Amino acid sequence: MAFFEWTDNLAIGVELIDSQHKKLVIAINDFYGAVHKGDDEAAVRKAVGHLVYYVKTHFSDEEELMEKYNYPHLAHHRKMHEMLTEKVAQYADKLKKKQKILSLDMAIFLKGWLENHITETDNRIADFIKNQKN
Ligand SMILES: [Fe+2]
Ligand SMILES: [Fe+2]
Repeated sequence: MAFFEWTDNLAIGVELIDSQHKKLVIAINDFYGAVHKGDDEAAVRKAVGHLVYYVKTHFSDEEELMEKYNYPHLAHHRKMHEMLTEKVAQYADKLKKKQKILSLDMAIFLKGWLENHITETDNRIADFIKNQKN
């Protein structure tokens, strides 16, 4: 069983976003896998590098979608994305500087953050878009 199992209650019903969320789940699993297996630092750093890249790509696409629909809570939502991006970047930086890090804690934190953010925050975008179309 994967560390982070995708389940249908994480689907918000917007295809692009759902497929990106699935890829984020995979990126978190890859990161967790690298840490858990005791892979070398380079492999862990590579997994984190991909995670950082993909988090940024996804947030940017999601914000673009909110802009397109004039989503009223964009500013607040963007702020949440910025805070997470900052946290992940700080973490990646610590890894680069070979500081003592708690990688498993980070993987657990990211899993919790993403589950919560998708079901509580991203879900509202989907509701808004569906209402616009009705
Ligand atoms: Fe979001
Ligand atoms: Fe999202």
